[in-house]
Amino acid sequence: MKPIHLAVLAMICAMVLLASTDNTMAAADDGDASPIYGVRIPAGYRQWQLIAPAEEAAPLNEIRAVLGNTIAVNAYRDGALPFPDGTVLAKLAWKHVPSPDFASASIPGAATTVQFMVKDSKKYAATGGWGFGRFVNGKAADEAQHRTCFACHQARAKAHDYVFTRYAH
Ligand code: HEC
Repeated sequence: MKPIHLAVLAMICAMVLLASTDNTMAAADDGDASPIYGVRIPAGYRQWQLIAPAEEAAPLNEIRAVLGNTIAVNAYRDGALPFPDGTVLAKLAWKHVPSPDFASASIPGAATTVQFMVKDSKKYAATGGWGFGRFVNGKAADEAQHRTCFACHQARAKAHDYVFTRYAH
């Protein structure tokens, strides 16, 4: 094969390789983006640290856990308000189910929703610097549901940078 042919072949191989890695990467974060905010489920969030558990008695009857990425955990540790850009908070929720093994204990039943708040003071300037995402089985909830997020957080948690959850020591 002539050197020029080899060079062309090498180029084609490189292009195919690049295209395929591109596709793999796209597939990895190709999950749904939330309406209005474009928030996606962050990779590895299930391994984040626990900020605090929570519970809702009615009407949803859920056990919840709020987790934070490293920036969030450091901000809680330092008492930093407002939370810095790059903060991401996750709220996981499950049905509250009585333990089959011990009458007075509860266990998490089926997962219901996973919700996120992403701090980007420029991008989300209109909503206190926070972008919101709500997911059910990995699928983003509709726009109407996303209209409710900031309204409630603003009405009840404005003094704490729109975040309800305090660190559980
Ligand atoms: C009616 C009020 C209300 C609405 C609407 C609401 N939230 Fe919240 N949110 C709360 C409360 C209260 C908490 C505290 C944890 C708990 O009790 O579940 C919370 C906690 C959170 C947290 C953990 C950080 C924090 O503030 O404590 C995230 C993330 C979150 N909500 C996301 C969302 C998203 C996304 C939406 C919209 C789809 C939304 N929330 C709509 C009341 C609300």
